[in-house]
Amino acid sequence: MKKTAAHATVPFFFFFLLVFCLRVHVEAQVPIPIQIDGFVYRGAPPVWGKSVVVEAFFDPLCPDSRASWPPLKQALRHYSRLVSLVVHPFALPYHSNAFIASRALHIANKLNSSSTYPLLELFFKFQEKYYNKPTYDLSRASIVKDMARMAIPAIGKNSLPSFLSGFNDSATDSATRISFKYGCSRAVTGTPFFFVNGMPLLQADDSPLDYKAWRNIIDPLLAKRS
Ligand SMILES: *[C@@H]1O[C@H](CO)[C@@H](O)[C@H](O)[C@H]1NC(C)=O
Ligand SMILES: *[C@@H]1O[C@H](CO)[C@@H](O)[C@H](O)[C@H]1NC(C)=O
Repeated sequence: MKKTAAHATVPFFFFFLLVFCLRVHVEAQVPIPIQIDGFVYRGAPPVWGKSVVVEAFFDPLCPDSRASWPPLKQALRHYSRLVSLVVHPFALPYHSNAFIASRALHIANKLNSSSTYPLLELFFKFQEKYYNKPTYDLSRASIVKDMARMAIPAIGKNSLPSFLSGFNDSATDSATRISFKYGCSRAVTGTPFFFVNGMPLLQADDSPLDYKAWRNIIDPLLAKRS
């Protein structure tokens, strides 16, 4: 009898352990940032209820993110102030240098917010340099230096020392982590990933959204206004 009772407690132990773990998981509070994550395009923050809001999760070193940018940019030009864009950097863990690149965007944004998108475009342009294979033998320090050199046309030569020291600033590390956690909290699993007016855009296939697709999504939303 005694033996049976002891056995019966084992499943209970695991049950309570599971409950405990789940509770911890659910209750762990992600640090709340002092302001909501994201880089606002054209410096024009979305006006609540006035503009259609597109949020894009981009990994600066992801070829699919790069491919999706020109048609989105073209759509933004077409709609002007009717559509706002906020980009969230989302560093994919299997891109070895993606966190550094995302951090570079946060550093640039902090130094001069007008330089964030130009830097993102430089990353898209020179992306291949920072893929896993070509950087396999490089140190983290040399990758940071190389990215800083690449960033000069966006940040300006005078900002180079502050840009470099930005990589030693724990605040830019936190900001980049927050971007990642923000994506996780919205169930982002890859890039590019888009939300329109807060709703996830589920693409039927892997082909990038072209200009026409953006028009087909946004035109009806604007038509139903006014
Ligand atoms: C900020 O960045 C923009 C875009 O790269 C550049 O045109 C501008 O001169 C920069 N401003 C300063 C103060 O460096
Ligand atoms: C950043 O920190 C590293 C390691 O502590 C140091 O070697 C490097 O010189 C620092 N860089 C800058 C620009 O402060």
